[in-house]
Amino acid sequence: MSLDKKNSINNILEESRIFPPSKKFAENSNIRSQKEFLSLKKQALNNPTKFWESFAKSEIDWFEPFQTVLDSDNAPFFKWFKEGKINITYNCLDRHIKKGLGAKTALIWEGEPGDSKKYTYEELLKEVCKAANALKSIGVKKGDLVCIYMPMIPEAMFAMLACARIGAPHSVVFGGFSSEALKDRLIDGNARFVITADGGFRKDKVIELKQAVDAAIESGADKVVEKVVVVQRTKKNISMVDDRDLWWHELLKDQKDQCEPEVMNSEDRLFILYTSGSTGKPKGVVHTIGGYNLWSHLTFKWIFDLKDDDIYWCTADVGWITGHSYIVYGPLSNGATTLMYEGVPRPSNLGAFWEIVQKYKVSIFYTAPTAIRAFMKSGREIPDKYNLESLRLLGTVGEPINPEAWIWYKDVIGKNKCPIVDTWWQTETGGVMISPLPGVVATKPGSATFPLPGIEVEIVDKNGDKVEENDGGYLIIKKPWPGMMRTIHGNSERYLESYWEYISFKGEKNVYFAGDGARIDEDGYIWIMGRVDDVISVSGHRLGTMEIESALVSHKSVAESAVVGKKDDLKGEVIVAFVSLEKDVNGSSELVEDLKKHVVHEIGIIAKPEKIIISDSLPKTRSGKIMRRILRSLAAGEEISGDISTLEDSSVLEKLKELS
Ligand code: WTA
Repeated sequence: MSLDKKNSINNILEESRIFPPSKKFAENSNIRSQKEFLSLKKQALNNPTKFWESFAKSEIDWFEPFQTVLDSDNAPFFKWFKEGKINITYNCLDRHIKKGLGAKTALIWEGEPGDSKKYTYEELLKEVCKAANALKSIGVKKGDLVCIYMPMIPEAMFAMLACARIGAPHSVVFGGFSSEALKDRLIDGNARFVITADGGFRKDKVIELKQAVDAAIESGADKVVEKVVVVQRTKKNISMVDDRDLWWHELLKDQKDQCEPEVMNSEDRLFILYTSGSTGKPKGVVHTIGGYNLWSHLTFKWIFDLKDDDIYWCTADVGWITGHSYIVYGPLSNGATTLMYEGVPRPSNLGAFWEIVQKYKVSIFYTAPTAIRAFMKSGREIPDKYNLESLRLLGTVGEPINPEAWIWYKDVIGKNKCPIVDTWWQTETGGVMISPLPGVVATKPGSATFPLPGIEVEIVDKNGDKVEENDGGYLIIKKPWPGMMRTIHGNSERYLESYWEYISFKGEKNVYFAGDGARIDEDGYIWIMGRVDDVISVSGHRLGTMEIESALVSHKSVAESAVVGKKDDLKGEVIVAFVSLEKDVNGSSELVEDLKKHVVHEIGIIAKPEKIIISDSLPKTRSGKIMRRILRSLAAGEEISGDISTLEDSSVLEKLKELS
């Protein structure tokens, strides 16, 4: 890992435009004055304990109060609100109904083939309770991990909340992951139960989820999985295994629609979510109930400036952290109306998103830069056909947004009246960390602006020294926050190594290293420059180069592989793989296709390499380390700069140049 690795890091983006919130938006926003914003920041800085305590008490309901706000005894294994008794579903559902909001729409769901449903808070609670009772009836107990591998259908939300209702942590696996990836996650988490569907609709295709579950179980997960619950979505024929597989609708049919929320400890696990790092297999990020509830709630409230009648839509998938925090828990804990869409825009229906905005009068819209760039490419004529007047606030997440896409979003989608919140955060942070508050902060296209109140960020070099204004460096977080991850499931060592020990920070311990590079400009605005480790982001999906390399090497013809990211106008980055083959194997275009398929089989479609370059050997140092810097330049079609004297065999370079 090094800062000069991605030479973009010091390549300072020139962007001096600045956009204050409109008077109208600012006047009506929940936090509307600089004074209020600065006062929140000051309170957090002067007395963090009091700051977090007051929000934890005013925003979250506890069955029994906490005494300790933050326990740092075993830092960085921090504990928040540790004596508190809580159930997040009480905060997401029951308490709103008690306040008379039972008839308010909680969930609007739009299916890919055009079917749709709405659930009020009262109806949602009933569905969750039925599902919770159903899970109990098949033996799910408090503390059991339940894997959810589903399309974007209401039952995915019911399943997550049903688990939380009975105190069973969930592990949601994105439906685009392959059976192999699913198997690894099932085994790592020791998931005895799986909730899935007979399939899901995606881009005019059916994704065969149940078949993938069957394959995962047959290829090794049988040692952990006992029961599989299957939601009927596509009605395609699937095989059901006796004594193991159960239909969701049959199981739920006679269940009571009431189920008391299990009284949980604040620090009990709410979920595990796997994400990619620079080394090894994906890691199971652990989040616990109390702190996560507060952080997803508070960030949602601050950033999206929620009003009673807002219709809020986040286009992420519940298989990612954005779906967890900003489709399910954050919006529901605030009593918002959250919209969920099964599909993604596809060539046969590029207007799908805007049709939904128009149909439901969506007022807050949260999506990824990669989607915005795709819309931009297909032209403004498409969104211009729809009435987007209802929109009042736009958000982005997942990767740096280029200023052109930002301006297009503001102009074409937001009609120049909607502020844009560019929100920086990670699976590990549980909720947004850096973002403008839309009624207060003047935005600059491409900058995530400032940390939220309570979050202390700095940009440092490898030694932990603060870098100069506008210089690139490592992004660190200096104080714990309630929504932070608690550990990596089954691997606390890796938790320490990956996040807390990488930067030797001068004078202070327990500094969190995010894995991103950033700079702070002369006005204090933060500009995220992307990952500085071996993680690449393809359409905002996080993938470790090592995972893809392991997948390639597991193919019988591959001896060695090195994977790098290449900049892409649409997807942010695409995957380029360099491979050398086993003796006696010849490279061919068929083999390249086969290798691509193999990666899809091992990880999933999101990891499919854009390009595979077969070469006799890879550029290595004399000590045998692959020189990725060289491969990155080759993939980008750039001149190879920097020191190549450590290269063992320089003739490799010439050969690779010809091939790339
Ligand atoms: C990147 C997604 C620039 C970053 C919520 C981070 C961003 C990684 C932004 C986490 C943003 C996320 N600007 N980069 N607004 N938001 N990232 O865990 O590199 O899937 O480390 O969480 O996405 O990805 P993850």
